[in-house]
Amino acid sequence: MKKYLVAMTAILLMTACGNNENKTAPGTEKTVDNSSNPDYQKGLALIAKNDCLGCHKVSEKLVGPAYKDVANKYTTADLSMLADKVLKGGSGVWGQIPMAAHTNLSKEDAEQIVKYILLLKK
Ligand code: HEC
Repeated sequence: MKKYLVAMTAILLMTACGNNENKTAPGTEKTVDNSSNPDYQKGLALIAKNDCLGCHKVSEKLVGPAYKDVANKYTTADLSMLADKVLKGGSGVWGQIPMAAHTNLSKEDAEQIVKYILLLKK
């Protein structure tokens, strides 16, 4: 019985150590993690409800620029201007392909989305 307990303890300890090694999952090495920021979460939820991801990815250019690149180009001082651009659409900043207007969004929602995008800044 005693031997059995010792063996069990050893196995449990080994399992516990194994789990510790896996603590840093791939992609979590980022220095700043904004994913618990309420602005990040609200903006992301709004983006998921709209067509944005059909043309934008976080770190790669698709039809439109990568959100990371947008974040690195601007500051929070540009919040209102960028929200207007999302609402009205436009072209010429990143190339000749235009972004369609988003008349279904309120200005508040557009600003919330832009707050999320700006949090992707590196
Ligand atoms: C039909 C494709 C398409 C869709 C859908 C789309 N975008 Fe864009 N977006 C673009 C393109 C193309 C540009 C680059 C425009 C330019 O060069 O001025 C752009 C640019 C932007 C910019 C940067 C604007 C600037 O002046 O630098 C932001 C912010 C943005 N989009 C957010 C969004 C959000 C938020 C949504 C969803 C509500 C969205 N986009 C949906 C194609 C799209």
